[in-house]
Parts: sequence; C-alpha cells; structure tokens
Amino acid sequence: MKSTSYIFLCLLVGFAKAAKLTNLATSLSSNASQPLPASFVSFSIEFSSFPDFAGNHSAPNTFSDTLLQNLGKLQGSNPIIRVGGNTQDYATFNSTQTEALIGTFDFNRSKDYPTTISIGPAYFESYDSWHNTSFIHGFNLGKNGTIGLDTLKGTVPSVCKALNGSKLAYWQLGNEPDLFKTSSQGPVRPSWWNETYYVEEWLNKTELIRSLIQQDCPEVIQDAKFQFYAPSFAGTGNSLNMIKAWQAGLNNDGNIAFIDSHNYIGGATQPGVTLQGTLMNHTSTVLSVNKHLNETAYLRNYTQLPYILGETNSLYNEGAPGLSNSFGAALWGVDFNLYCAATGIQRVHMHQGTDYRYASWSPIQTANTSIGTKAPYYGNIMVASLLGDLTKGNTTISDLEQDSTYNSAYAAYVNGQLRRIAVIQMREYNYTDNAEQTRPSETFSFQLPTDSHVKRIGIQRLMANGSDAITGITFDGYSYNYELNQGKPVLMTNVSRAETLGIGNDGILSIQVPWSSAAVINFY
Ligand SMILES: *[C@@H]1O[C@H](CO)[C@@H](O)[C@H](O)[C@H]1NC(C)=O
Ligand SMILES: *[C@@H]1O[C@H](CO)[C@@H](O)[C@H](O)[C@H]1NC(C)=O
Ligand SMILES: *[C@@H]1O[C@H](CO)[C@@H](O)[C@H](O)[C@H]1NC(C)=O
Ligand SMILES: *[C@@H]1O[C@H](CO)[C@@H](O)[C@H](O)[C@H]1NC(C)=O
Ligand SMILES: *[C@@H]1O[C@H](CO)[C@@H](O)[C@H](O)[C@H]1NC(C)=O
Ligand SMILES: *[C@@H]1O[C@H](CO)[C@@H](O)[C@H](O)[C@H]1NC(C)=O
Ligand SMILES: *[C@@H]1O[C@H](CO)[C@@H](O)[C@H](O)[C@H]1NC(C)=O
Ligand SMILES: *[C@@H]1O[C@H](CO)[C@@H](O)[C@H](O)[C@H]1NC(C)=O
Ligand SMILES: *[C@@H]1O[C@H](CO)[C@@H](O)[C@H](O)[C@H]1NC(C)=O
Ligand SMILES: *[C@@H]1O[C@H](CO)[C@@H](O)[C@H](O)[C@H]1NC(C)=O
Ligand SMILES: *[C@@H]1O[C@H](CO)[C@@H](O)[C@H](O)[C@H]1NC(C)=O
Ligand SMILES: *[C@@H]1O[C@H](CO)[C@@H](O)[C@H](O)[C@H]1NC(C)=O
Repeated sequence: MKSTSYIFLCLLVGFAKAAKLTNLATSLSSNASQPLPASFVSFSIEFSSFPDFAGNHSAPNTFSDTLLQNLGKLQGSNPIIRVGGNTQDYATFNSTQTEALIGTFDFNRSKDYPTTISIGPAYFESYDSWHNTSFIHGFNLGKNGTIGLDTLKGTVPSVCKALNGSKLAYWQLGNEPDLFKTSSQGPVRPSWWNETYYVEEWLNKTELIRSLIQQDCPEVIQDAKFQFYAPSFAGTGNSLNMIKAWQAGLNNDGNIAFIDSHNYIGGATQPGVTLQGTLMNHTSTVLSVNKHLNETAYLRNYTQLPYILGETNSLYNEGAPGLSNSFGAALWGVDFNLYCAATGIQRVHMHQGTDYRYASWSPIQTANTSIGTKAPYYGNIMVASLLGDLTKGNTTISDLEQDSTYNSAYAAYVNGQLRRIAVIQMREYNYTDNAEQTRPSETFSFQLPTDSHVKRIGIQRLMANGSDAITGITFDGYSYNYELNQGKPVLMTNVSRAETLGIGNDGILSIQVPWSSAAVINFY
C-alpha cells in the first residue's frame, strides 16, 4: 500500500515500436456509434453490499459519493446505480426487523456474499446518501410462491417512497433468470420453465408491482416512470434466449425502456485465465462483446429500444486477485467500455460488491480489503474523460482498428467533429519483474483530415508503474486515492502532465505510449 514511487514516464520511455498509421480521413465519423445517452459510465452494486457502499441516514458513505461525483463532472451526469445481482433474488423482507440487512453465508454456495438474506425498512435509507444520483431497484423474482409475493408486497411501498422524484431511474425484476434452472448455487425453477413461463411470470409480477405502486406512489405511474431494464439475462447461450423471450411477449405491457444483458470476459478461477491472455488482449474483448451483436441488431430493429450492459466486469465470481484488481484490469476496462460504446452498447454498469476483487473502490474497511480507490476506478475516469459531457451534444464513438491485439484506439466525435482519441497499449509490463529495465513503448500515429482545424493537442495519460500495480495510479497527473483526500482529485507533483503534441506538415501526429498504459488525445 501507499507506494509513492510514481514514475516520470517521459524519462523512462525506451525503444519505441511503430504501430500502424490510422487515417482519420477515411475512418469517418459515419462509422461511429449512435449518439450515447447520458451516464454511459454507470455501476451495478450487489444488493447485499449496497448498505456498505451507500451507508444510511446516520452514516452516509461520503467517500462513495465523492467518487460518483468525480465521474459525474467528467461525463455530465452521475453514474446510474443499479442495485441488484444474485443477492437480489435471495432477499426477503421483514417489516419489523431493525437491521437494514441480515445475511447468512453458506460457503458451499458462495464465499463472497450471503445466500440467505432478510432486509428491513432501514435498508432503503441507503437510497438517500448520494447527491444527484438515480437508481434502478432490483426486485426479487427468484423466490416463488407465497414468500416471493410477500417480498414484493413488503418492499414495493418502501422502495417507491425511498426513490421519490429524481432518485428513480428505472426498475428491474429478477437477476439473470436465464440461469435460474442451472445455477451452481441451487436451481430455483424446474427444467420445463422456458421463455413462455418466464414471460408469464414476469408480466404477472410486474403487473402486481404496478398496482402496488399505483396505491403507494401514484406519481411514479403519472410521471411515466414505471419503466424497466429487462430481461437482465446473464448473457447469450444460457437456458433462456433473449430473442425468444421478446417474441413470447416480454414487452406486451410496453414498460421496458432498455434491453439489458450482462457480460463477463471469463471466470475468476477458470483454468488458463491470465492478465495478458484474457484481459489485456483486445481480441478477447472483441470476441466477448461481439457475442451480443446478433441480439443488438435483431432487437434494436424489432423493438427500437437501446441495448445496454446492466451488469458486467472482468471475471465472474467477483474477480481474481492479482488480475482484476491490477492496473492491467483498468486498461482492460477502458478497452472494454469503449469497444462496447463503438459497437452500439449504449450504457455499461460495472458491477461492484464488498471485497470483490474487480471493484472500482472499497467503500468500507473490512477484514480482507482496505477502504480505498482501486485500480479499475482509474479506468472509469479515463472512459468518462474520453466521452466528455454527454448531456451537451451528440457524442459518438468510433473504433480505430489497430493491427495488434495489444493496441486499441477509439475516436470520440461531438456533433460530428473529432474531439478526442483514446489510445490503449496492453503489452504486459510487470514492474516487479522488470524494475531494472527500461520500459518499452509503442508509437501510435494518426493522419488528421485536411479540414480538421486543430489548433492545439493536449495529452492526458493513464499511468502506473506497471500492469501489476494496484496503487500509485494517476490519470492526467491526478490521484483519487482515499488516503490523500478521501477520493477527491489530488494533483501529484511527481508525475509529468500538461504534455502537448505537434502535428507534422504531413498532417500526422504521433504519440509514444509506454507498455501497459493509455492516453487521451484532446483536440482543441
Ligand atoms: C422479523 O424480525 C423480527 C424482529 O427482529 C423477528 O422477531 C422475526 O422473527 C422476524 N421474522 C421472520 C419471519 O424472520
Ligand atoms: C447505520 O450505519 C452504521 C454504520 O455502519 C451502523 O452502525 C448502524 O447500525 C446503521 N443503522 C441501521 C439502522 O442499519
Ligand atoms: C458444505 O459441504 C460440506 C461437504 O459437502 C458439508 O459437509 C456441509 O454440511 C455443507 N454445509 C452446508 C451449510 O450445507
Ligand atoms: C419454486 O422454487 C423452488 C425452490 O426454489 C423450485 O424447486 C421450484 O421448481 C419452483 N417452482 C416453480 C413452479 O417455479
Ligand atoms: C414452453 O413449453 C410449453 C409447454 O411445453 C410450450 O407450449 C411452449 O411453446 C414453450 N415455449 C417456448 C418459447 O419454447
Ligand atoms: C399469472 O397470473 C394468472 C392469473 O392470476 C395465474 O392464473 C397464473 O398462474 C399466473 N402465472 C404465473 C406463472 O405466475
Ligand atoms: C488473445 O485472445 C484470443 C482470443 O481468446 C486468443 O486466441 C489469443 O491467444 C490471446 N492472445 C494472447 C497473447 O494470449
Ligand atoms: C441471430 O438471431 C436470429 C434471429 O433470432 C437467429 O435466427 C440466428 O440464429 C441468430 N444467430 C446467432 C449466431 O445466434
Ligand atoms: C429489420 O426489420 C425489417 C422489417 O421488419 C426486416 O425487413 C429486416 O430484415 C430486419 N433486419 C434485421 C437485421 O433483423
Ligand atoms: C467501423 O467500426 C467497426 C466496429 O464497430 C470496425 O470493426 C470497423 O473496422 C470500422 N471500420 C472502419 C473503416 O474503421
Ligand atoms: C443529436 O441527435 C439527435 C437524434 O439522434 C438529433 O435529433 C439532434 O438534432 C442532434 N443534435 C445535434 C446537436 O446534432
Ligand atoms: C508480476 O511479477 C511478480 C514477480 O515475478 C509475480 O509474482 C506476479 O504474479 C506478476 N504479476 C502478474 C499479474 O503476472
């Protein structure tokens, strides 16, 4: 912890390999995505961890609030918070319980979260902790029969009152129901439960929720805010098919606002998973995201609704230590999020939970994890910086394909004008192994269009000692570490910044990017 050996990147740049010249005149903005809606950088917080992340009326978690506001300032609006995950389908409601949440672990089912959960009215205090933040509450679909209905009847009045006004973004019913029949933590539906039965149950229960909200919070219905993220499937190729669910009438009541799918690159304990091979590998990211493209193409056409990832991160089962919490995973996060944006995924909720290895921050001190800002958060900051204020214009993202699986680049256009480029270099540079050696770098070159009118170019670097760093990370010379100013940006004096770049007479600009680092090129 608290290593202060920040590097002087300019001095350490070693031999530079040239990557391909990307011609921005031919990589036209017309190849870019649809304009992104607000809050592209969003989060999903594990249902059982939400009180840790947000706190309550007597102890609101202001550290989390600060980290969310930092991102809000960069992208123009705060991340939207989905409260859910596997534990939303374990949670039952007890109206006389004083504790916000009582959870019991069963290590045979999960070492990372409780699998028997009871929440009381105090749970909903957590929705009051953060400024200018809106939420998606995940209702329980997993519990069937009387317990399931009682849980809905108990929670709806509390949650609709807690999420009054601008705090309500959308609703959700059920987490990853396409795994209900096959869950390694115990199946909760019989083998015959197909898309038809899922849809019937989803419609029945959302209609029940609607009638309860009509009684307790009629303004939600009046303001047309009874809208869902659905179906929140784990991904493609599981026991329910998203396209079939749609065809079976999932949106018959017309209250779905976003088509929601989940994604992980691989598993935390899956054999063969490595930082270089699985995460710092553009090909691996492309293959993972492209699995959604058939659904996005079909469903967008069929429904006209935006497609988003409502829960995602690097490695399922909460990430692997040494991989998911490293600076290399932050670089993966930048590549992954921007590739999603370029291919038409309209919002990405990075999943968080207490003690999760892939978490962007740890909101409290626990026996296993120190309170603090973790490496992946710096990736979130870079993504938000590349996007800029999404509320001020139409921002579209274009993939500037490179010729190596270790390099990627993306352009951000605002109202059709090139404004920023992100470059990501993903060759693993493990500083523990290479401390004595010069850090190699790669040169990215871009041919600007002749009518670009660029007057000045400024660089912001995402930097750390190496891909294995878990601390000492900066973006544009700023640290967001808890230890410095509880998550507020602090300018580090020992990191070079405010770099500028010139453009050659040939209209070419070149930037050297040290291995295992990234940068945003800003055009003014
Ligand atoms: C609900 O909570 C109360 C107060 O803690 C407790 O006495 C009761 O047993 C709980 N009910 C159930 C069903 O767990
Ligand atoms: C509020 O949070 C504090 C600090 O975590 C805790 O001690 C207290 O029990 C919580 N109150 C409720 C009602 O959960
Ligand atoms: C967990 O599994 C072990 C070995 O199969 C078994 O002995 C134990 O009873 C199980 N624990 C629970 C809580 O089910
Ligand atoms: C109800 O839930 C139980 C246990 O979770 C499961 O075994 C059963 O198949 C479910 N039944 C139906 C009709 O969904
Ligand atoms: C689900 O199963 C029922 C009964 O076998 C069948 O009628 C229905 O067509 C199935 N639905 C789908 C989407 O396959
Ligand atoms: C849905 O509601 C109808 C009418 O109340 C009921 O007959 C049916 O069993 C319900 N189906 C499911 C799957 O909950
Ligand atoms: C990158 O990922 C692809 C696809 O999974 C794989 O074929 C390739 O071997 C990986 N590259 C490295 C260097 O591990
Ligand atoms: C893509 O979606 C269509 C429409 O449902 C389906 O027929 C086709 O099999 C899908 N292709 C793949 C590769 O999943
Ligand atoms: C989109 O819908 C139109 C009209 O229903 C259809 O002709 C076309 O093939 C569809 N395209 C895709 C990609 O599904
Ligand atoms: C356009 O973007 C896609 C990814 O969305 C990429 O595969 C393709 O190579 C791009 N085409 C050009 C000309 O850059
Ligand atoms: C942004 O895009 C929308 C539709 O995609 C369009 O109606 C609007 O005019 C665009 N605004 C600007 C400033 O280009
Ligand atoms: C980096 O190198 C150290 C020392 O060899 C090793 O223990 C560690 O596992 C490496 N990190 C990664 C992510 O490969």
